[in-house]
Amino acid sequence: MSAMDSQITGIVKPKGAFTIALAIGVLAALYYLGQAIYNAFFGPLSKIPGPPLRALTKIPQITTMMTGRDNTVYPALHEKYGPVVRIAPNDLSLANGAQSFQEIYGFRKHGQAKPFKDPAFYGKAMNGAPGIIIADDAGHSRQRKILSHAFSDKALKDQEPLLKTWTEKLKTKLMERAGQKTDMLKYYNCTTFDIMGDLTFGEGLNMLEDSEYSPWVKTIFGSIKNATMFRGIRVYSALTKYLVDEIIFKSKAVRRMAHEHFKYSAERVDRRLKRNPERPDLWSKVLEKSDGPDGLSLGEHHSNASTFMVAGTETTATALSGTTYHLLRTPHAMEKLNTEIRSAFSSFDNLTLETLAHQKYLMAVLQEGLRMYPPVPVSLPRCVPKGGMAVNGQWVPEGTVVGVHHMSVYRSKTHFKLPNEFHPERWLGDPEFKDDHLDALEVFSHGPRNCLGKNLAWHEMRLLLATIVLHFDLQLCEESLDWTDQRVYTLWEKKPLWCTLTPPEA
Ligand code: HEM
Repeated sequence: MSAMDSQITGIVKPKGAFTIALAIGVLAALYYLGQAIYNAFFGPLSKIPGPPLRALTKIPQITTMMTGRDNTVYPALHEKYGPVVRIAPNDLSLANGAQSFQEIYGFRKHGQAKPFKDPAFYGKAMNGAPGIIIADDAGHSRQRKILSHAFSDKALKDQEPLLKTWTEKLKTKLMERAGQKTDMLKYYNCTTFDIMGDLTFGEGLNMLEDSEYSPWVKTIFGSIKNATMFRGIRVYSALTKYLVDEIIFKSKAVRRMAHEHFKYSAERVDRRLKRNPERPDLWSKVLEKSDGPDGLSLGEHHSNASTFMVAGTETTATALSGTTYHLLRTPHAMEKLNTEIRSAFSSFDNLTLETLAHQKYLMAVLQEGLRMYPPVPVSLPRCVPKGGMAVNGQWVPEGTVVGVHHMSVYRSKTHFKLPNEFHPERWLGDPEFKDDHLDALEVFSHGPRNCLGKNLAWHEMRLLLATIVLHFDLQLCEESLDWTDQRVYTLWEKKPLWCTLTPPEA
């Protein structure tokens, strides 16, 4: 071969390979684009309304998720497009109130397939033993049967002294801060974490005592936002999913952090299981029912304890903070609540779980607080089962991701008059709100996988809020006037709720 030949082939060969690679790349891109266009505009979901770009690509959905705009973007989309919106090529958001909750999360007749939890949202068990939240249907009903004993009316009534002890501690700590600027979000969180620590592990977390978040709790808060970000990246494509799973989730730092969190609650569960406590806690009831092959394994004990410490703490503190904020922004409602509580109870000792459940205005205030600021404001996604199913009167194919978007339901004029205003009266039969669909409020979700701790949450919310109202006059500080102006990363990214508390004048 002459020098000239080799020079020529040296130049031509890579060029040829490049051209072939480019052609393959272009063909692949055209194929995916064609498929995306077909799926968007001619596929089985093409009749469902929504922005055309969202039908074509997941990018807008991911952007909403990763910028924390879920709470404003989806209510606006529902207002424009109606109760069912295609928010991504394969994802539908629903907001048709009680009907949507029943369709997606409700009980089914025996043998009838039902939507299942979207694994992209719920993830996997750290220790290989799925707890109640992510267990499959069989595992879920076995665990729920056992765990529900700990949340029965009788079991919760037995916990009244424990709830009152921690509530009194909150009262004492707030008394020490009378007249000073105080972050109520932090105090509510410290209380709900101490309560749940005591109920779950038989030991408080010392948070009220220190009036500070423990490092473990700070990690929980941080990890919820991080998980949302990683989910955003994972759901984009098989490649990004692989990269997050194989590089980030398997990295030493992430594994160590997840392990530390899990170890913290697992060690406390182990300590609790070795002890026979003097007074009953949540595990006392669970252990009574845990014998035999259908009982909880040690791994399931660990997973569920970890779940309780997240699901049963921040949520209740969020509800109380949101309600407190809205009360402070609505002086006539605060006034009415003060009157109800202060005339019904002369001291802390008179507050009982039973009597509090009969305080009508207190109940209405909390319901309205939950509507305005639901602790889980997003959609909890489910996958349509084999064979497909009807959603709002339209057939959708298996594998479609569906979920009811809480904020979109609660801020919809279709369901609630003056949806962006705080009106506890709507829960008390006020004729102005006679057309409201009160059954559209399902902050604890609906059906077989609804909140197991709902009754406990109600007891805590009533007791804590009534205690605050009985012992303090509250004022909202200037810097918290726009407190609800927050982003959402699965849960609200909350700011301190600055208030001043003073004992009421006699
Ligand atoms: C205002 C407070 C609360 C709210 C708004 C709330 C909300 C919810 C929601 C929306 C779900 C459904 C989750 C899903 O479908 O993935 C849920 C499930 C659950 N919650 Fe709560 N929750 C609250 C308080 C509590 C408390 C105090 C506990 C006590 C431990 C608790 C324990 C649980 C458990 C164990 C589940 C899973 C139930 C199952 O899958 O069968 N929650 N909660």
